[in-house]
Amino acid sequence: MKILVINGPNINMLGIREPEIYGKATYGDLLVLLEAAAGQRNVEVDFFQSNHEGTLVDEIQRAYFDGYDGIIINPAAYTHTSIALFDAVKSVGIPTVEVHISDVTTREEFRQVSYVREACIGTVMGKGFDGYVEAMDLLLGGMR
Ligand code: DQA
Repeated sequence: MKILVINGPNINMLGIREPEIYGKATYGDLLVLLEAAAGQRNVEVDFFQSNHEGTLVDEIQRAYFDGYDGIIINPAAYTHTSIALFDAVKSVGIPTVEVHISDVTTREEFRQVSYVREACIGTVMGKGFDGYVEAMDLLLGGMR
């Protein structure tokens, strides 16, 4: 069981960016948490973060060619703009869960659209880093 965790723009700035919204823990802390969660669940997990839309598309396609069983994606701001990411998730047909650290439904109007959501088997938001672990369990629930 191989899961790929993809994070979009500015997620590498966790701990620095708007701590009142995203918390004080860093992107490195997130990876440590998810590595431990994956170990407990006996699954392999890989991580990818980019600030560039096309690079994120490339990584979703790589997930297909490298045989990943599931994707956890926080497309960050590209959630609200990117048809390319939506098409990429549709293209690969790999079960994918959308994650947001914050609850985007209670934020600005421009965050109310998610293009990628329709291509995903589920969405977890507003649960901080734990949302990624919940996403992992959603994927595993569908696989086991
Ligand atoms: C986010 C929410 C997005 O609206 C925002 O652009 C992000 C992070 C979240 O994890 O809460 O960068 O995806």
